[in-house]
Amino acid sequence: MSEALANLLNETRQFPPPAELAAGANVTADAYAEADADRLAFWERQAGRLSWAKQWDQVVDWSTPPFAKWFVGGQLNVAYNCLDRHVEAGRGDKVAIHWEGEPGDSRTITYADLHRMTCQAANALTDLGVTAGDRVAIYLPMIPEAAVAMLACARIGATHSVVFGGFSAESLTNRIQDATAKVVITADGGYRRGKPSALKPTVDEAVANCPSVEHVLVVRRTGEEVGWSARDHWWHETVEQASTEHAAQPFDAEHPLFILYTSGTTARPKGILHTTGGYLTQASYTAHAVFDLKPETDVYWCTADIGWVTGHSYIVYGPLSNGVTQVMYEGTPDTPHKGRFWEIVGRYGVTILYTAPTLIRTMMKWGEDIPAGYDLSSLRLLGSVGEPINPEAWMWYRQHVGGGELPIVDTWWQTETGAMMISPLPGVTAAKPGSAMAPLPGVSADVVDDQGQSVPNGGGGYLVLREPWPSMLRTIWGDDNRFIETYWSRFGAGATGDSGDPWIYFAGDGAKKDDDGHIWLLGRVDDVMLVSGHNISTTEVESALVSHPSVAEAAVVGATDPTTGQAIVAFAIPRGNADTSGEAGEQLIADLRNHVARTLGPIAKPRQIMLVPELPKTRSGKIMRRLLRDVAENRSLGDVTTLQDSSVMELIASGMGGGK
Ligand code: WT7
Repeated sequence: MSEALANLLNETRQFPPPAELAAGANVTADAYAEADADRLAFWERQAGRLSWAKQWDQVVDWSTPPFAKWFVGGQLNVAYNCLDRHVEAGRGDKVAIHWEGEPGDSRTITYADLHRMTCQAANALTDLGVTAGDRVAIYLPMIPEAAVAMLACARIGATHSVVFGGFSAESLTNRIQDATAKVVITADGGYRRGKPSALKPTVDEAVANCPSVEHVLVVRRTGEEVGWSARDHWWHETVEQASTEHAAQPFDAEHPLFILYTSGTTARPKGILHTTGGYLTQASYTAHAVFDLKPETDVYWCTADIGWVTGHSYIVYGPLSNGVTQVMYEGTPDTPHKGRFWEIVGRYGVTILYTAPTLIRTMMKWGEDIPAGYDLSSLRLLGSVGEPINPEAWMWYRQHVGGGELPIVDTWWQTETGAMMISPLPGVTAAKPGSAMAPLPGVSADVVDDQGQSVPNGGGGYLVLREPWPSMLRTIWGDDNRFIETYWSRFGAGATGDSGDPWIYFAGDGAKKDDDGHIWLLGRVDDVMLVSGHNISTTEVESALVSHPSVAEAAVVGATDPTTGQAIVAFAIPRGNADTSGEAGEQLIADLRNHVARTLGPIAKPRQIMLVPELPKTRSGKIMRRLLRDVAENRSLGDVTTLQDSSVMELIASGMGGGK
């Protein structure tokens, strides 16, 4: 990385934790020292935060890498740990979920309620012939039954595969077929953008091509008319009639808990397999450590969908295993108005908010007047996940949501890692805006160069994980070779073929260590451009653009260029008040190109900037650079089916006049 480019990341602002939070934090700096002294003993202690039916014999078995086994010989039940033990400890009346539907309906569900609902679902699934090891696909909106369905599977040892409710029949078919699921749990529909959005017809279409599916369980949510066949069962006629008694059996620590398909914007999706003991240990510990969860007083809210790993680990398993109260919201952030999120924070007294940079930037675009109109004084900690958060968005989040004083935990992890890996500790770390800072205790992350050598402070390269971790993926469902090829063959023993070398996990992200050794994530490595022989990350140029007062959001791609190899092409959404008509638009584009050159150096000056009203995003909020590259290289558009809103590309293409 050139020196000029390193400038952007020389962010010198640093924000120590508020004294009060630091004084009462669940986890102190000692955790790093303890984990450094004995990593396995550290994880063993975290496993001890859970309730085990049988103690493990060995912490980790890494004798056949890259296939790990954690807490070998141990047995536990995940649902027992999330529900029964809280109820047995007399905390059954505590609210587990404050649920709010998009139309404004709400439900208050205590731990005792959630326990009863889960027992009923476990009994109903058993009646349908589901036994331990069977796969169950879950295709639901953000309603409490989604959490109940997952917990019921965990309770009886069935492996769930949650498919995000926005995915098409074809995506659902592929996922059901790959896992040979026996049962699908769905709903008539859910509410999105103010109206019912049907799910059952998509399931009907998918299941027609899935001979493995014997039963479809349907929650009634919208009350809309649905097609019906012999394999369909209403949730309220089966689950809600079942016994509320169910004794949870313990399962082996390595029993498959869930498969989750990565949203892969290009190739065939990968079924990431997570197991029981190690996964719950790390999901639970990181929720406790990074969110500083206080079950007695906190009201936690993660705005993700249950269809993503964030929803698995930080709506269901992490928070519930810690016995905390949380908010769950069904709908979109601007229905019926752009203050919906802040209204929810105020209504339930949310203390900890976990959301994504794409949302924060959307809120920035809408303007700070909106959060300013609500009472956000209950908040004490903010979190971010999903992509690099640029310093401007970080500062905006702190300023306009966090009242200028709340700590922000920028948490790096992946579907594959199962739980958080790199993040500040809120009571310990003096965070820098835009940096995920340091590996969590017990995690060994590093940044290496092309040769796999650790880079010195100030250097950039690829993010790797050097040691196995409890919540690591165990394989890609049905495809051990692809597991090895994708993650373990770039560096270490898998690359050299020398069994004496250590096995090193390649995360696929570019990263940099700053002069203090803190880690900055730079986006996927396929998002790095090579301009005249210089590596320039799309994230850096995007950050530079967004630091200009007239830009709300930006996406950058490398387009093939006859002279420079690749050229930087940027798509920028102007802020609401920026004048972009005719000459003013041309002037803004010129200013922006110069602004990037000034910020990052002349080499990073975009060849072309287009002012656009929207950006193409996947349903999980990741910018689909592949489509923007098609536009930048004047190609016809590729597959747009995974786009959240496919009309976006028409908008962009029609506004393409505004050029150079
Ligand atoms: C990829 C994983 C982790 C749950 C949601 C996404 C990017 C994630 C951060 C962060 C920079 C981040 C990485 C990673 N990412 N969190 N805090 N800073 N980048 O899960 O869909 O499996 O995506 O998201 O590129 O590899 P996922």
